[in-house]
Amino acid sequence: MTDLQATLRFHLRRKTADLHHRLDTHIGAFRTRVDYGRYLQSAELFRRLAEPELTAASDEGWFGDWRPGLVHDALAADLGDCGLEPAPGVEQILALADPAAAWGALYVAEGASLGANILLQSAEAIGFSATRGARHLAAQSRRSTPWPRFTALLDSRTDLDPERMVDGARMMFETALACFDPATGSSNPSTKLAAFA
Ligand code: HEM
Repeated sequence: MTDLQATLRFHLRRKTADLHHRLDTHIGAFRTRVDYGRYLQSAELFRRLAEPELTAASDEGWFGDWRPGLVHDALAADLGDCGLEPAPGVEQILALADPAAAWGALYVAEGASLGANILLQSAEAIGFSATRGARHLAAQSRRSTPWPRFTALLDSRTDLDPERMVDGARMMFETALACFDPATGSSNPSTKLAAFA
């Protein structure tokens, strides 16, 4: 086993740090309920694209006994709590064609839970909670508990091509960025999605 393979998680972290930073900057903190509503629409759109792909990969048996954390239904309920409609549908650009790309994408989807505690605090400060408007953030915060088990499983997948995993992880981050990018916003995300499809 090479050093690279022994630390797949840190390899993925290094190779996607630029995209995480951009995403973090785009999302920022929610200072107003309007900010939060925009975030919810973008997050719902992202999970609407990502979760069917992760579920299909899981159904193929590519993740063994690991079940991806799914928060789309909670997000749809959060939108309903806020009286908001989902953003318009967009063309699917995320294709998890093989186990290595799927594991890379799964790393991003599971890792997103690690920032949820911070986002939950921002949402609570403007009046939302685990039972109203911020259900998905509460679910993701709980999800951070099995993260060490996830990274152990990830690091054990030395049978998979690490660079293909990076491709899958970057594709997942790019999908998220397209959904959260304020330049297009949730009012017209398809323009940006089409641009890098
Ligand atoms: C404002 C929004 C966000 C904040 C403040 C945030 C913050 C954080 C924090 C604090 C960590 C833990 C870092 C560590 O323990 O080393 C983390 C990890 C991570 N986040 Fe985010 N995050 C945000 C959004 C997202 C989103 C939307 C995604 C994915 C779509 C994402 C993907 C990840 C991944 C993959 C990791 C794991 C990195 C590792 O391997 O340690 N994050 N984030």
